[in-house]
Amino acid sequence: MPSVLTNSPQEAAWWLRAGHLVIFPTETVYGLGCDAMAESAVAKVFEAKGRPADNPLIVHLADRQQIALVARRVPSVAHQLMEAFFPGPLTIILPKADNIPDAVTGHLDTVAVRIPSLPVAQEFLRNAKGPVAAPSANLSSRPSTTTWQAAYEELEPHVGCVLCHDPATTGLESTVVDCTGPIPRLLRPGAVSLEDLYAVAPTLSAIGGHPHRSPGMRYRHYAPSAAVCIVRHPNECDSAPETAYIGITPPESGASPFDAIQICRSLEEYAHRLFAFFRRCEKRGIKRICCEEVSEEGLGRAIMDRLRRAATA
Ligand code: TXA
Ligand code: MG
Repeated sequence: MPSVLTNSPQEAAWWLRAGHLVIFPTETVYGLGCDAMAESAVAKVFEAKGRPADNPLIVHLADRQQIALVARRVPSVAHQLMEAFFPGPLTIILPKADNIPDAVTGHLDTVAVRIPSLPVAQEFLRNAKGPVAAPSANLSSRPSTTTWQAAYEELEPHVGCVLCHDPATTGLESTVVDCTGPIPRLLRPGAVSLEDLYAVAPTLSAIGGHPHRSPGMRYRHYAPSAAVCIVRHPNECDSAPETAYIGITPPESGASPFDAIQICRSLEEYAHRLFAFFRRCEKRGIKRICCEEVSEEGLGRAIMDRLRRAATA
């Protein structure tokens, strides 16, 4: 059965409640959602993505009232982080409530919770009438998708419905913070920066600015079919054919020509365009994508995290 394409969050939520997978937009990247309480739907997500069963999913909620449905308790630091950053691009790990199927959390006794800020995502989640488990809408180990078209192309045979909307604004996944231990720990840098987090949770641990490992970090990640290399300056790239460049600094005139190029005016634009550029390069048969290094501050930390993992894949 071909997937239904719709602009209606109500219609998309109907498909989800009927046990199907739904591609839906958020402010970070597109998600592949299912009813978190339906084990058969959760199994379909792992199958569609080719995702290892021990890599847990984020549970998406419409509002903070629903947290009691999925978490056993909310530590005080988690309350403070939610107060500051929910709804928005932050995921918080909490002790898991028993009614969430173990398959959602990869059999951990913790659960990842996020309330997206994008209004159409909130409308979809409200109409879902319960928690929605959703990883990023891409095949396992591939870059996340930032448009519904890219998500649909990659996952189509498994999807019941696509909630079509604009390209995702941020372009990189949410920041993940584990609040289940004695001090909060950064597991994945994202649009809520380390500086933002420290202002609310000064005890936060990020080991020298680097995140701790979450289950998902064990796996190959964010990799397009082209080789990704990190460069300090565009002129560093040699003139091998089928090479592309993305960064903030434009190449000097006379530098080797690139087969595809994306100059970004800010870190925000770099994050927003990165994964879409990876996909565009793949389609054009580019063999190597040179990505400019940025300083590890603010959103720069999340960009460098994704670049490093794409480059070592
Ligand atoms: O922006 C986002 O977070 C997007 C949108 C769709 O919300 N979602 C997303 O999901 O990026 P996913 O599955 O691609 O990444 C979730 C990350 C993985 O690294 C996973 O291991 C980690 O969160 N995670 C999920 N549950 C966890 C848990 N209980 N403990 C530790 N890490 C967890
Ligand atoms: Mg992902």
